[in-house]
Formats: sequence, structure tokens, C-alpha cells
Amino acid sequence: MEIVRTVNEMIAITDRLKQENKTIGFVPTMGYLHEGHTTLMDESKKYADVLIASIFVNPLQFGPGEDFERYPRDEERDQEIAEQHSVDILFLPTVDEMYPQEATIKLHVQKRTDVLCGKSRPGHFDGVATVLTKLFHLTKADFTFFGLKDAQQVAVVKGLIDDFNFRTKLIAVPTVRELDGLAKSSRNVYLSEEERKEAAHLYKALCTGQQLIIDGEKNPVMIIEEVKKYLDRETNGKIEYVDLLTFPSLKPIGSIDQQVIIAVAVQFTKARLIDNLIISEN
Ligand code: PAJ
Repeated sequence: MEIVRTVNEMIAITDRLKQENKTIGFVPTMGYLHEGHTTLMDESKKYADVLIASIFVNPLQFGPGEDFERYPRDEERDQEIAEQHSVDILFLPTVDEMYPQEATIKLHVQKRTDVLCGKSRPGHFDGVATVLTKLFHLTKADFTFFGLKDAQQVAVVKGLIDDFNFRTKLIAVPTVRELDGLAKSSRNVYLSEEERKEAAHLYKALCTGQQLIIDGEKNPVMIIEEVKKYLDRETNGKIEYVDLLTFPSLKPIGSIDQQVIIAVAVQFTKARLIDNLIISEN
């Protein structure tokens, strides 16, 4: 595995790979790698000759008072995990390397962000779109892998790729979960023992909503209410939102007649957890 820390090195390597007609798979991450990330890496091997992964805690996507400073980091352990999952090139730039000067141009995501996490994290997806624009250029990825755990991110990145004609193909990978259903997340380490037990109920709450749809409930308001009630009963966390929207356009819906997403966010003492289920019509 080659460690790359500079933009120029990355451009030179991917230029060479393209000259050699190699296909490139890319997994962008913020590190503190877990099975959610490594599943994306393993998936890339099925699509592309070369696997590039990046680890960069992107300050642009954190708002004031969010956890940029205390976002968990462990570069040594991450390098071992990346190596075990056959990453060929690991990109580890510093903030100065990625953002050497004050931005001349600002990207603003104007659709799919007035709901779910976008609502309470203004500017978050602008930061995601900006860093991914740079990373798509640098890596020249033919395929880029994203987890459906962050379904709103998938919806926004689909828009980014379509709007700007990026050549990369987005591959969305199902959420990887712990045995009790909790979605794997770098932030799970901040849960207390009691909260860790409660956190499994996010997934279970979503499943009760899904079951209502399977049983024929068409009214989103009813389903949202039931999921909220379940979360209220089973966790002490603060429910930030429970919502049911179309996917990937993330629009409100009057009656369930197409692919939808049920999504929740719950704030625990030191960690804000999100989860979702995408339910296709059939
Ligand atoms: P990060 O939170 O590190 O996640 C990197 C990728 O791993 C994302 O595509 C995310 O959806 C995926 N992922 C995380 N947990 C997962 C799980 N339990 N199952 C499946 N996939 C999972 O998302 C980001 O970083 C950043 O916003 C980034 C895209 C790197 C831009 O800075």
C-alpha cells in the first residue's frame, strides 16, 4: 500500500494509472475505520483494478460547535485496516494541503438539503460537495463508493455528479450493522454503556415503520408518529427528527406510492446518531 500525502503526488499517480488504462475505485472517508468503511473497500475490488481510499476529516463540513476537534482519529490503526482490505493507495492529506488558500468559489447545494440532517447542519453538505469535487478530480475515480447509512449524502452526491458531469459512477452500499442492528459508526465510541443499549432501538424503530408500510399503511403521518412513540419509549436520547420522504429526491409525500426513506436522528449525551431504511415499492 502506498501512502500519499500531497495533491501533486496524487495527480501524478492517477495520471499514470489512466495512461496504463487501469480502472480506479475510490472510497472517501474521514477515518477511524470500521466495517462500514471496509465493506465499501471490499466492494471496490469487484469493480475496479486499483483501490484508492482517502482519510480526511474535512473541516468544511463541520459547523461551529460540532465535533471537528474531537472527531476520533487513529492514523496508525487506520493504515493497518486499509492494508488488510487491499487498499492500493491511501490518501492522507493535511487540511493545509487540501485548502492552501481561502476559497475563491463556494459550492452551495440547493436541493435535498432542507430536510433531515441538512436542516440542522447548515453548510454541511456544501462542505461535503466541495471536498468531493476536489477528491473526484484528484483520484480520477471511475467508481466511488458511498454507504446508504448516510442516505442524504448519497442523494446529494448523485446531484453533484449529475449536475457537474463527473465521470465517476456512484455505487451505494447497504448499511453495515452490529448484531443488534445498530448502524456501525465512528461516533458509536462516544455512547455510554446504557446509551449503547438504547441505540439499537433506532434500527428497531425504523423496522416498526417499515412493517406498517408492508402491512399497507399509506399515511406517512401515522408512520412517523409510531416511530417517534417507539423511540420515546425505548431511548432517553433527544429525537432530532423522524421523517418519511421520497428517495433520492427527498421530497415530502402525501401517500406512500413510490420508493421512500424513513430516517431518524437522535442526540445522545456525546453522540448524535442517524439511521434510515429505504423502502422500495413493490
Ligand atoms: P465517513 O463518515 O467516514 O464515512 C465514509 C463512508 O463510509 C460514507 O460513504 C459512509 O456512508 C460510509 N459508512 C459509514 N458507516 C457505514 C455503515 N455502517 N454502513 C455502510 N457504510 C457506512 O461520509 C463521510 O465520511 C464524509 O462525509 C466524506 C464522504 C468522506 C466526505 O468528507
